[in-house]
Amino acid sequence: MLRQPTPDIKRDLANKLPVRVIVDMLGVPQSDRDLIWEWSEAVGRLFSLDERSLREADEAIDAFREYVGRTVHRFRETGEAPDLAKAMLEQRDNEALTEDELVAMYLLILFGGSETTTNLLGNGFLALQRHRDQWDLLREHPDLVPGAIDELIRYDSPHHYLPRVADGDFEINGVPVRKGQTVIVVMGAANRDESVFPDPDRLDVTRPNRKEHLSFAFGAHYCLGAALARLEGDVVFSTLLRRFPDARLLDDQPVYAGSAMLRAIQSLPTDLGPDRG
Ligand code: HEM
Repeated sequence: MLRQPTPDIKRDLANKLPVRVIVDMLGVPQSDRDLIWEWSEAVGRLFSLDERSLREADEAIDAFREYVGRTVHRFRETGEAPDLAKAMLEQRDNEALTEDELVAMYLLILFGGSETTTNLLGNGFLALQRHRDQWDLLREHPDLVPGAIDELIRYDSPHHYLPRVADGDFEINGVPVRKGQTVIVVMGAANRDESVFPDPDRLDVTRPNRKEHLSFAFGAHYCLGAALARLEGDVVFSTLLRRFPDARLLDDQPVYAGSAMLRAIQSLPTDLGPDRG
């Protein structure tokens, strides 16, 4: 990022870091990380509504799946794989996973580890720039940063909604839902529920119940990478606040990519100010 004439927190940092981390964890060569990023971005477009994006997402999933199949084959041939990949292969060997499930899980972790955390970093930086008092508070009290990440995720959820299929009949706020119907659960709205989060539109990194957000979903499918996402957020914001305490966004009205589900800012050109090391 520092080598760019105008550093861009989204393009040059947020888009790059999570994919670098996850490819190492899964034994994918760093030389392929741009490819993984391109596919992850295209898969993210699966949640948009125009036909071209859907077609691109479909093509990316096919290419992604083929690549993962080859990677798994390489692990088996060489016997060399990082711990996470080995653990999945063991589950395949003792038939807890089918071959399709193994490839799908591997692909989901690669995708989940790239696209979502980038948006936590981008959205979080924008929120802190728009609430400069909170940026200053964290700058003065770096020990608050790890806990602040959940407030950033609550305030502007990287993943806005999810579909769920009802497994029985029930009623919610007077609306009947029948077994088998699809319900769209908008976690972004739940995160601003004033009966849970008083003054919900205020960013408050010391909010006592900030971890009660639903951005990582809940229940059996609670996000597998939540701890990693929090850690990456902590490392990035702690480093930015320490080294670039005077950073200023050059334009605080950024453009979003066209997905209603994933809140993805495209670009955040920033004047970093002096590097305080
Ligand atoms: C701020 C960053 C992240 C957000 C907001 C996020 C959000 C979510 C959400 C909402 C789900 C539930 C999806 C569903 O039930 O349909 C989920 C599941 C999942 N996430 Fe994340 N995620 C993040 C980071 C990560 C990372 C870093 C990884 C990989 C290391 C990851 C891997 C997964 C996987 C594998 C699942 C599926 C879990 C299952 O179905 O049992 N996520 N995530």
